Amino acid sequence: MASMLLLVASLQAASRLSWNSVAVSVDDKQIVSSATVHAHPGRLLGVMGPSGAGKTTLLGVISGRCTAQPRKKLTGTAHGVPDAHDVSILEQAEHFFGLLTVRETLELAVELEGGSGSAARAEVDALLQTLGLLAVQHSRVGDAIHRGISGGEKRRLAVGCALLAHPSLLVADEPTTGLDSHPAMRVVRLIREAAAARAIPAVATLHQPRSSIWAHLDDVLILAPRGRVVYHGPRAAALAHFESLGHRCPPHTNPAEHLIDLVSTDFDSPMSASLDEERIHSLAAAWRKREARAPPVAPPVAPPAAKAAAAIASTTAAATATTAGRTASPSC
Ligand SMILES: Nc1ncnc2c1ncn2[C@@H]1O[C@H](COP(=O)(O)OP(=O)(O)OP(=O)(O)O)[C@@H](O)[C@H]1O
Ligand SMILES: [Mg+2]
Repeated sequence: MASMLLLVASLQAASRLSWNSVAVSVDDKQIVSSATVHAHPGRLLGVMGPSGAGKTTLLGVISGRCTAQPRKKLTGTAHGVPDAHDVSILEQAEHFFGLLTVRETLELAVELEGGSGSAARAEVDALLQTLGLLAVQHSRVGDAIHRGISGGEKRRLAVGCALLAHPSLLVADEPTTGLDSHPAMRVVRLIREAAAARAIPAVATLHQPRSSIWAHLDDVLILAPRGRVVYHGPRAAALAHFESLGHRCPPHTNPAEHLIDLVSTDFDSPMSASLDEERIHSLAAAWRKREARAPPVAPPVAPPAAKAAAAIASTTAAATATTAGRTASPSC
């Protein structure tokens, strides 16, 4: 029995994707500091932190888009991570042809992925149902000039287009920003359900998520300024970790808000900024200690579709760094 449990545990560990000790700096500015991230198939990981903490940069590394450049240094290693073309990225700003309908947009996306005929039509039909877009399938998407579908519907359409690529990893930068509570929830639920149904990991940065969205995350990573990790693991265990460090979440408080407050700096007075930095420093140190006590399991054997133990970058020369191969976006 014990050996069976060990086997299950090691199989689960083997299928997760890991980015170890990721550090990104531009000139002398540290943007991400030795962050280790694990993403598990079928689970949604929410990356949270105050503005400027390094969430988009870290997501750029995870998606393979953040590469070393002459002034940018990128170090760390990756294990079990798919090739960049197997990663679907949900951009904050969707790029649709405004004059196409919702159905035509999905049909075009499926065609661009090489799909055709009745199988492609069936896939679009099923997706329209899953996305909750059947009622607006013949509506124009719209653009700045032509009024089209709502913001929430556009965001769900973007998830649909991303899923048509049959990715091995789905990443989304702030998929809920600009949406009201209900549409934001639907988008997060959709991403989580897609990850579970397809047994792929999903990673999303979230800006100040409401408690209803917090409750839909499987795992969380809390990032403090300069990309310092203060917690990464199951969402359900996050509050207990901070409580053990003396930061109990007050009753009737949104857990996400409480945790983001803990890693935010109030620059209004030098005194409070220094106290905040002291607290963040000790939270980051406590997390490093905890990581050191329970180091990640041995790197898994890469599945056939994945890159074998891809090095993100060399530890010294930025110019020799490689990633999954995409060009860096300006945001990372
Ligand atoms: N190429 C770059 N050159 C210089 N500074 C950069 C570069 N990319 C990011 N930064 C800086 O690194 C920090 C983190 O940026 P990033 O966009 O990752 O933060 P974020 O957590 O996503 O913030 P937000 O919540 O506002 O989107 C910011 O201070 C940003 O100005
Ligand atoms: Mg960002």
